[in-house]
Amino acid sequence: MKYIQIAVDGPAGAGKSTIAKLLAKELNYTYIDTGAMYRAITLKAIEKKIDINIETEFDFIYKTNFKFKKDSLFMDGINVSQRVRNNDVSNNVSKVSSYLSVREKLVSIQQLMAKNENVVMDGRDIGYKVLPNANFKFFLTASIDERAERRHKDNLERDIKSDIKLLRTEIARRDYLDTTRLHSPLKPADDAIIIDTSHLTIDEVVSLITLRIREVENSGI
Ligand code: DC
Repeated sequence: MKYIQIAVDGPAGAGKSTIAKLLAKELNYTYIDTGAMYRAITLKAIEKKIDINIETEFDFIYKTNFKFKKDSLFMDGINVSQRVRNNDVSNNVSKVSSYLSVREKLVSIQQLMAKNENVVMDGRDIGYKVLPNANFKFFLTASIDERAERRHKDNLERDIKSDIKLLRTEIARRDYLDTTRLHSPLKPADDAIIIDTSHLTIDEVVSLITLRIREVENSGI
């Protein structure tokens, strides 16, 4: 049996994970948040107190186990979904995700995960690197101001201290690091459908995407 793969890429705060999660629920597919995996490795490095600036310190990745269960990420059997959102992790994850050895290992795990079930996978390099043959590829964007506003609201709702100016600076910095890094920079696959979500609600984006999927399914392409 051939399983369906849906790739959702885009920068931080474009609504990727909320949209990918809803889409997965709607289609009854497994949702795989690859950003959470890079964050989890960063969390483990921080907890182990290793030097984040030394790539070879990340050998522990070969002995690290990941499992997604109902939208939650378990690392070595422990649910880390909440802790991977800490500011400390957010501020260090770009560095960690720039390492080739870390990327190669996580990409191979992600490819395995997509082999045996229908998946909606979100990240930065899914459409052109992790799942180049995905059945559907979407690239979500939004202006920096809009993304900072969304993160700010999200933080306030979660009772996390938040400064919108600082968020804007951090998002711009992360965009710069993610798009200019040497290995697998953030970019759309050539055949991805690009959706600017700045003036759309979450539900509108989910509807747009599901409509596109149904259209293709019904046309039998
Ligand atoms: O989507 P996010 O903000 O949780 O991602 C966290 C970091 O991980 C972000 O700096 C980019 C990186 N990342 C990546 O390099 N490749 C992916 N497939 C997913 C995330």
